[in-house]
Amino acid sequence: MPAHPYWPLWDVRLSVADLQLRPMTEADQLPLADLLPDDLELDPQATRYPGLDEATNRRVIGFQSYWSSYGSWKPERWRLPFCVRVGGELVGVQELEAEDFALLRTVDSASHLAPRVRGRGIGKQMRRAVLALAFGPLQAEAAITSAWHDNHASLAVSRALGYQPNGESLHPRGNGVDTMTHLRLRRSQWLAAGGAAGVVLEGVPACLPYFGLTS
Ligand SMILES: CC(C)(COP(=O)(O)OP(=O)(O)OC[C@H]1O[C@@H](n2cnc3c(N)ncnc32)[C@H](O)[C@@H]1OP(=O)(O)O)[C@@H](O)C(=O)NCCC(=O)NCCS
Repeated sequence: MPAHPYWPLWDVRLSVADLQLRPMTEADQLPLADLLPDDLELDPQATRYPGLDEATNRRVIGFQSYWSSYGSWKPERWRLPFCVRVGGELVGVQELEAEDFALLRTVDSASHLAPRVRGRGIGKQMRRAVLALAFGPLQAEAAITSAWHDNHASLAVSRALGYQPNGESLHPRGNGVDTMTHLRLRRSQWLAAGGAAGVVLEGVPACLPYFGLTS
């Protein structure tokens, strides 16, 4: 019997090099709130409580996002948030998400790291781990990603993993308008580059029905 027979997503483990990725649980939320970096742009549409200061509001958004990810999960629209640890120390978050996945076979991703551990290749390794899940047992055909044109670190992670240009779009940002850069990685490019090398996946088969997959 798996440890979480009705929510086997909690039994998934991804590891690569000295990184371990484990789906978030309630117990992770306070440590993650402490880790939340100031430069992570949160959904401007997310609920904010006028009586709370911005730092507290940002952390409340983190809690509500966590509850929403599992509470609103359905095969047609899911978001799997992983805690990322290096040698057991919590350093960040890597999410994998999709809409109409069984039909479109396309995943998106989002991530953040504590500033003190950035620039050491961890961002690339943790994205590689979730892409190995997506292009491996989930049989994705493509991975897309979007970042503001000036988010050099995020775009560099994607480009280093083989994502190709996929257009630009304009969006409200602050009091003005700014450019979002879109990139896409096709299954054939991922396989040709051998991106899954060294990534170990555990506990995935029991989860396939939750992604709308039968085998
Ligand atoms: C995006 C983020 C997770 C990347 O993690 P990271 O561990 O710092 O990235 P890596 O060390 O794996 O670096 C990956 C690539 O980015 C480059 N890079 C890293 N920081 C950079 C910076 N500030 N400017 C330009 N390039 C940068 C690295 O040189 C490397 O490129 P290379 O493989 O061509 O040498 C991290 O910067 C972060 O948490 N940013 C804030 C949150 C955020 O913006 N998330 C994305 C929202 S869309």
